Amino acid sequence: MPVPSMIAIDGPAASGKSTLGFRLAEALGYLYFDTGLMYRAVTWLAIHHQVSISAEAEVTRLAEDVPIEVTAPSQADGRVCDVIVEGRDITWEIRQPQIDANVSAVSAYPGVRQALTRQQRRIGLRGRVVMVGRDIGTVVLPDADLKIYLDASAEERARRRHDENLQRGMPSDYQEVLAKVIDRDRIDTTRAVAPLSAAADAVILDSDRLTADEVFQKARDLCQP
Ligand code: DC
Repeated sequence: MPVPSMIAIDGPAASGKSTLGFRLAEALGYLYFDTGLMYRAVTWLAIHHQVSISAEAEVTRLAEDVPIEVTAPSQADGRVCDVIVEGRDITWEIRQPQIDANVSAVSAYPGVRQALTRQQRRIGLRGRVVMVGRDIGTVVLPDADLKIYLDASAEERARRRHDENLQRGMPSDYQEVLAKVIDRDRIDTTRAVAPLSAAADAVILDSDRLTADEVFQKARDLCQP
């Protein structure tokens, strides 16, 4: 078996997909592409242009019309890439709680998904890529050479988010974080188009039971020829 070229990593929020995807891409010398940031950028655009999140047609038009540029990191401030929209660097703005609170609604719109899936597929089909999201193995790259579904309990994921918030000096309440994780899971898994689910041929890794290093090692082993 050759080394997989198109690698899909899916799973719920805060399951460790980004950490795994980034490390795996680095180890293989592949492009790391986080598709969640595209949904976040469209959410940022809607808020920035004062378009109501519930205005589906207008939000969809933004996803179709405004290019989202993802480029190599221009600064060493912990970012893994730059996200540029309308000439503005929004890399950190798209990580704000206001975006977290609205992105699931935006990503449930079929037109938004169609516009972004098209762009993601174009990037993914070039190969030598680790693409991370919710529907990569099921919809964006159903022919991916390797599909990983990284799972973890809501409690464990909330604990990680809560610790991250505190490390960044942000106020955080564990019960509130847990309620938000559960709510996002509900929206992501029950939406009509491309709901979060493991592809039938995905390898399921449970990060409740494995450390980040063990998850990486298992994924690395799956990439051996
Ligand atoms: O991975 P993330 O938290 O940055 O994702 C942000 C949101 O985008 C999340 O609510 C799920 C959604 N998303 C999606 O629907 N499909 C993807 N391929 C990636 C993210």
